[in-house]
Amino acid sequence: MIVCHCMGIADHEIRSAIDWMRAADPDTIITPRKVYRALGKTADCGGCLPLFLDTMRRCDSFPVATTERAGFPVPILRGVKGRTE
Ligand code: FES
Repeated sequence: MIVCHCMGIADHEIRSAIDWMRAADPDTIITPRKVYRALGKTADCGGCLPLFLDTMRRCDSFPVATTERAGFPVPILRGVKGRTE
């Protein structure tokens, strides 16, 4: 399914870009801009952003891994001294 009609970006391309970014850096915050950049494109009208974000959120590898402290989710920051779980 095409998500961004200006740039012709399909949902599977968004998921692939997110999977690639997550594999390269488990702690990175993935934004729409980073996905566009990974695909070698830039946003134009921005009309696709709600569907673009929804597609990103539905990707299993989108969230940063978290643990729970005092009842709140806390990101697991690998490589940060003293914060590695
Ligand atoms: S539809 Fe995605 S930038 Fe226009």
